[in-house]
Amino acid sequence: YLAKLSSVGSISEEETCEKLKGLIQRQVQMCKRNLEVMDSVRRGAQLAIEECQYQFRNRRWNCSTLDSLPVFGKVVTQGTREAAFVYAISSAGVAFAVTRACSSGELEKCGCDRTVHGVSPQGFQWSGCSDNIAYGVAFSQSFVDVRERSKGASSSRALMNLHNNEAGRKAILTHMRVECKCHGVSGSCEVKTCWRAVPPFRQVGHALKEKFDGATEVEPRRVGSSRALVPRNAQFKPHTDEDLVYLEPSPDFCEQDMRSGVLGTRGRTCNKTSKAIDGCELLCCGRGFHTAQVELAERCSCKFHWCCFVKCRQCQRLVELHTCR
Ligand SMILES: *[C@@H]1O[C@H](CO)[C@@H](O)[C@H](O)[C@H]1NC(C)=O
Ligand SMILES: *[C@@H]1O[C@H](CO)[C@@H](O)[C@H](O)[C@H]1NC(C)=O
Repeated sequence: YLAKLSSVGSISEEETCEKLKGLIQRQVQMCKRNLEVMDSVRRGAQLAIEECQYQFRNRRWNCSTLDSLPVFGKVVTQGTREAAFVYAISSAGVAFAVTRACSSGELEKCGCDRTVHGVSPQGFQWSGCSDNIAYGVAFSQSFVDVRERSKGASSSRALMNLHNNEAGRKAILTHMRVECKCHGVSGSCEVKTCWRAVPPFRQVGHALKEKFDGATEVEPRRVGSSRALVPRNAQFKPHTDEDLVYLEPSPDFCEQDMRSGVLGTRGRTCNKTSKAIDGCELLCCGRGFHTAQVELAERCSCKFHWCCFVKCRQCQRLVELHTCR
């Protein structure tokens, strides 16, 4: 539903909320009550998809979203590691975009976080306009998590999704940083004002990709009167709130299987010299690869002209391109 949301124009009328495909009733209500925030939700969804595709660009599953497929394909409707990543990055994207919109003054409902103020122990002045991550996280919790809560949050899949949604938001919280600006005569840092800022989204994506690589396979277990997810292998250390968890092993993603939303790796560009997953051996699943000479247009012999532009020539370079059979 986030892929659908990310592709709509703008959300400025209550009517648009009704027309958005894939939202559940509670989300439609939230959409109508928070119209001005919805554009950020849309931007957050877009950011999440772009980041997912960047982080997975060299892997067999490359986070492709096709209109003909249920959002990210069935891989994500199953409880796989890939689904864990998609849920985490999406809830993070929403929290991130809403937070940024708050600080930039676009929204009436929220602004800067002014609870961080005064003089810090390190002697700098807080600017009074820190990123309001608490608002962004709370909005993501209510808008994104409501899908699981409405299903009755005790199914294994709902528990998995809720856990990974939270892990996504934690990835922002643990990478918050302090940014500063110097004031004073010709840039001397006589007075320094600082604010708490969200990290670049790329950093969030990178952190979550590492969590994906180390994700824990879990199974539901009765704990007291409720259910919880515990590691399937008792020898593994228990996962933390920041780790990703999944319930089912992933397919190998080698062959196309449209019913499951798996595109397969035929035609994908691979790296002949790499031994990692982007290498032709692994990416092409041992099927071999084609090699073609292609001409690449590049800028070359660039000269700097005073002042101030750069002039380049167009050069053609022959490169070998390898694609999976
Ligand atoms: C993902 O891989 C498929 C083929 O398996 C390709 O058609 C598609 O363009 C790729 N998507 C991205 C975003 O690289
Ligand atoms: C291919 O893989 C090798 C070894 O991992 C790496 O040094 C090289 O930069 C890669 N080439 C491309 C085009 O990514």
